Amino acid sequence: MLIPRTNSIDLLTLELQRDTAASIHSQLDTQLRGLIISGRLQPGAKLPSSRRLAGQLGCARNTVLAIFDQLISEGFLEGQAGAGTFVASQLDFGFLDPKSRKTSAQRAGARGLSKVGESLIALQRAEYLPGRPFALAGPDLSLFPAEVWGRLSARAWRQRPRELVSCTDPFGYPPLRTAIAQHVSAVSGASCDPDQVIVTAGATHAFELIVRLLVDPDEAIWVEDPCSSWAMSVLLAYRMRVVPVPVDEQGLSVVAGERTTSSARMAVLTPSHQYPLGVAMSLSRRLELLDWARRANAWIVEDDYDREFRYEGRPLPSLRALDVDNRVVYISTFSKALVSAFRTGYMVLPEDIAERLRGSRVFEEQSVALPVQVALADFMSEGHFIAHLQRSRRAYARKARAVDHFGRKHLSGLLAFDAPASGLHTVAKFEPALARRIGDADAAAALGKAGIIVTPLSIYAFKAPQPPGFVLGFGTLNEAQIELSMRKMARVLARL
Ligand SMILES: Cc1ncc(COP(=O)(O)O)c(C=O)c1O
Repeated sequence: MLIPRTNSIDLLTLELQRDTAASIHSQLDTQLRGLIISGRLQPGAKLPSSRRLAGQLGCARNTVLAIFDQLISEGFLEGQAGAGTFVASQLDFGFLDPKSRKTSAQRAGARGLSKVGESLIALQRAEYLPGRPFALAGPDLSLFPAEVWGRLSARAWRQRPRELVSCTDPFGYPPLRTAIAQHVSAVSGASCDPDQVIVTAGATHAFELIVRLLVDPDEAIWVEDPCSSWAMSVLLAYRMRVVPVPVDEQGLSVVAGERTTSSARMAVLTPSHQYPLGVAMSLSRRLELLDWARRANAWIVEDDYDREFRYEGRPLPSLRALDVDNRVVYISTFSKALVSAFRTGYMVLPEDIAERLRGSRVFEEQSVALPVQVALADFMSEGHFIAHLQRSRRAYARKARAVDHFGRKHLSGLLAFDAPASGLHTVAKFEPALARRIGDADAAAALGKAGIIVTPLSIYAFKAPQPPGFVLGFGTLNEAQIELSMRKMARVLARL
């Protein structure tokens, strides 16, 4: 639609409403600006006197005068002594003229996303739908001891308010780093010094900092195939050369990686509980990987995101516990063990690298709000974290048994379940009869219509073909929901 242009104010277009919450002042101000910006009042156009305008609109003259003054001070209007008030002559809002406007596609092209941005929005991600069976939705928030947390936070504000607003160590709140170092020493099987720990806004953020510090653009990085999008988004953003390395029943295949690109700069992997397949990397594979890293002079990033939740046997020693060469950077998160919304995780750097960073300007500021760090430090050092982990582990073990039991009971012949040995998710592979009928993405879409959210295994695959299957999150469900949803799933899948 063409906007008619005029050299005199069309008072009929100004209309003040008496029965709205907006004041007369703000209505008139907005409408006058609109007339100028839209070009209906052209540069140089004369405005009626404040007396006439106020009279016609039935408002106070002072209101009009105040608005004229404001618009003059902002440069929209010009006042000429004795001559009146005019739209500023230098204004050019011509780019808003519809005739000069481009189509929305052309405009989007001009201010569109970067190539990296385009590749990031194309990444497939699992949907986050807490409480919906079997969405990948992190920990069960009903297990979180909110009262204890609230008490510790309130106590810190009461007793140590200065600490909550004044710590400036960019590696993180020192007592929290001490508590994390003790936890890492206990779970990873190798001692850890607080000076090696950097508190980050989650594991993804830790990985981003590591990539920024240790790898240059276009260098090759081994990534597990399949793997989730958390690492991929960082690698794409930093323009790394992603080398997908297949995962077999022993974990990442070092031989296959060497065959493709032996000289990669880094390998990033989830050895305790491969995401998404759930495999624990065998000891011989771990040693093979460390040997490759030494020969290739490469870094290893060990993402130990859910080591705390193991239901059977003892976990194998972490890569950092086997590393004699200072090549392993260990990262983990409180997103699974506590609450994902705290956005808190950490990395443990080799001592020499931590030493070089300390005192540098690489990390300008802390990345997690201090009140969260202080409460978490107290939560850990006073034994609440361990108690929470023990309680949670028992609860998740029950849920894991229910997934295995009801999965076998209701879905046999359709899906094959392995009893989940750790973590908050499991993989169910299609039995041959189902695999012949449908792919996992289509089957997931059909289940989605019935309210069952499953994540197709195929969204995690790069090159290595994956048999069809679903990744099922069970952390937020109770046993009754698990059984009910397994039955429903069986009904839908049997009809496909
Ligand atoms: C395997 C794995 N590692 C790391 C992360 C990232 O955790 P954070 O929430 O701390 O960024 C995720 C996210 O769910 C994940 O699945």
